Amino acid sequence: MRLVLLGPPGAGKGTQASAIVKKYNIPHISTGDIFRANIKAGTELGKKAKEYMDKGLLVPDDLVVSIVKERLAENDCKEGFLLDGFPRTVNQGEALDIELEQMGLKLDKVVNIDVEREVLIERAIGRRICKSCGATYHIKFNPPKEEGICNVCEGKLFQRDDDKKETVERRIEVYQKQTKPLIDYYTKKRLILNVDGSKPIDILFEEIIKALE
Ligand code: AP5
Ligand code: MG
Repeated sequence: MRLVLLGPPGAGKGTQASAIVKKYNIPHISTGDIFRANIKAGTELGKKAKEYMDKGLLVPDDLVVSIVKERLAENDCKEGFLLDGFPRTVNQGEALDIELEQMGLKLDKVVNIDVEREVLIERAIGRRICKSCGATYHIKFNPPKEEGICNVCEGKLFQRDDDKKETVERRIEVYQKQTKPLIDYYTKKRLILNVDGSKPIDILFEEIIKALE
């Protein structure tokens, strides 16, 4: 299964991605996670990406595209993959098409998770992530059993630097201008599966799996 997850910040891409990759046993490729790992490790790439991410802006296409190309060439992507948060511009979408064509591969579906603006802001601001294993929670919609502690590994939960209200609002604006045109791009290619991201996590997951099968 070769999938792309599309949707605004806080729509639930990462949350659904974690469940979908388990189901299909495919790698979860999140460009946001790759950048955050590089920031943590203090790499040059991380330093460059952080300048943009902290402002809620997109990292330049050339940087993102080369990372994804390298990642797709790895062995674990042979049987499929799920791209979360890439492509994010039409330019990146075209670059992905070229790369896949050269690899003799095609996307199976682009799952587009739609959620209204007010809900996105509430979701992003309330998000908490485990420092050790990366599991995602929400203080209201998906709280851990014990406040501030991960259910899976008992790691400490933290808030992402770009989950402040002003930055989330900027990210949504950027999404509207630069990423939303991809819905049209993939609709024309007959790859889009539109889903209503305001539904509860488990119900949405069942709906996506049903539509993919
Ligand atoms: P990235 O990390 O991709 O962030 P994003 O797209 O802004 O999306 P989020 O991760 O914020 O939201 P999500 O949809 O994954 O939601 P989640 O499942 O966590 O990118 C970060 C930055 O990196 C970008 O701003 C950019 O600078 C850079 N970048 C990354 N990729 C790039 C690219 N291709 N090109 C250029 N720059 C790039 O859920 C959110 C919250 O809601 C959680 O708390 C969750 O528990 C809760 N929740 C989820 N689903 C539900 C539900 N159904 N009901 C109730 N609550 C729910
Ligand atoms: Mg995410």
